[in-house]
Amino acid sequence: MTNETNPSPISIAIFGADGDLTWRKLTPALYNLFLDGFLPKQFAILGVDGKPSTLEDWRERLRSGVDQFSRRGKSVDAQWQDFASHLTTYLSGDFNDAATFAALSESISGQEKAWGQSSERVFYLATPPVIMETIAKNLGQAHLMDDRQRSRLVVEKPFGHDLKSACTLNDSLLQTLDESQLYRIDHYLGKETVQNILAFRFANALFEPIWDRRYIDHVQITVAEQVGVEHRGGYYEKSGALRDMIQNHLLQILSLIAMEPPAAFNADEIRNRKVDVLRAIRPIPVDDLHHFAARGQYGPGWLEGERAPGYRSEADVAPDSATETFAALKLFVDNWRWQDVPFYLRTGKRLSQKVSQAVIQFRPVPHQSFPASASLDWQPNRLEIDIQPDEGIALRFQAKQPGVTLRLSPQEMHFRYAEAFHTDPPEAYETLLLDAMCGDATLFMRADQVESAWKVVAPVLDAWNSVTPSDFPNYASGSWGPESAEMLIAQDGRRWFQPIFPGAPASEHA
Ligand code: BG6
Repeated sequence: MTNETNPSPISIAIFGADGDLTWRKLTPALYNLFLDGFLPKQFAILGVDGKPSTLEDWRERLRSGVDQFSRRGKSVDAQWQDFASHLTTYLSGDFNDAATFAALSESISGQEKAWGQSSERVFYLATPPVIMETIAKNLGQAHLMDDRQRSRLVVEKPFGHDLKSACTLNDSLLQTLDESQLYRIDHYLGKETVQNILAFRFANALFEPIWDRRYIDHVQITVAEQVGVEHRGGYYEKSGALRDMIQNHLLQILSLIAMEPPAAFNADEIRNRKVDVLRAIRPIPVDDLHHFAARGQYGPGWLEGERAPGYRSEADVAPDSATETFAALKLFVDNWRWQDVPFYLRTGKRLSQKVSQAVIQFRPVPHQSFPASASLDWQPNRLEIDIQPDEGIALRFQAKQPGVTLRLSPQEMHFRYAEAFHTDPPEAYETLLLDAMCGDATLFMRADQVESAWKVVAPVLDAWNSVTPSDFPNYASGSWGPESAEMLIAQDGRRWFQPIFPGAPASEHA
């Protein structure tokens, strides 16, 4: 989201340098930023990991990640060699040991000396959450975070396991760091289309006057995945869909859709407006939970012609697991703009399609002046914001069908990123890494946002935790989730929408 393109010299130290995230996401993102000219001439990437390796082996491993996961495809030799010369250090060391941090400090200072000037310092924790506090403390003790303006710590999700642990983690990190140095990642905020919600709402005069309870009937946010838990059974067993997706990604999308216009486009102002939304979310009544929340777990099924196993047969998953792989919520935002407008949220793994979208369903026209015969297929206006995979926006409206008789039919206006801009949007991690380097925290979560989001889901987590579901698995792989999620919305006389295929207009599914 930053306007800056050329930050001053930069040192990026990645903890968990040999791990999956660095391999799959961070290095391809840094490589693409490099190729696109967003990195300064003087930058160094330092790896820190418990695993012994040599600098050469580390570079080779990172290259294989770039070859597999970069949006540009396989790396070109000369370009890679140029980039690899900035992968300057691989430190194999214990994150509990002060010596690791002393060595890191020495490497960074040595590099800065060679450059003849100090650098911006970004420390990226691509590590399991249990070690985060220790690393932050050790960075502090090694005086690596002393410069509050130019030293930043990027923290991956999950940020805490529940409200209590998130508050404890915040307290502990803030003993070493200033809030302005902390960059808590929610990678959904780096997605092009998620950022575009702000542009769409606040750079256009057209929609804002009708963006409220008078004109909007309800909002749906769907993040559907086809993948199962893959190799992350161990993590997912302790997490589940509500923690893994709704507490962060879906609530962030909701905040962007529901926030008030910011007075200025800066990190604090935007984050203030977003946290106002989270704070205004009506507490979910636990004594009436089934009207507000639904959970599910995938069983075996078929996905795109292939047999898919049930969650309980996945690696590192208990054969009687009660972890939810699907969650749906109905939320209300208690303020003047949104009073009594339901926000339906759902997410799940092993669903029929990979699709993330927000749908704004407008109210019907107040008076139907056309004869009934003209409007057999009458549908109120609907705005669909497609976050992935086919990024774009579609607006449904009524049009007269050509002909001598008066017949109306619903039509769509489409905006597709790929068609409009003829360019691949950057990966979320490219945007977020560049922002962290430039010190723009707009797209990162502040302590109060994380805690407010945990408060929203806390009653459901507690209630689900206290009652073991008797019907798991309750949806087949390749379906659209459990019956209870259909009931959650059907009880209000509404239905879930999703595109029939990516690029197609939203439609109800039977
Ligand atoms: C992560 C979750 O935050 O987001 C994963 O931990 C999930 O379980 C992933 O698969 C989805 O991200 P994306 O960008 O593929 O929609």
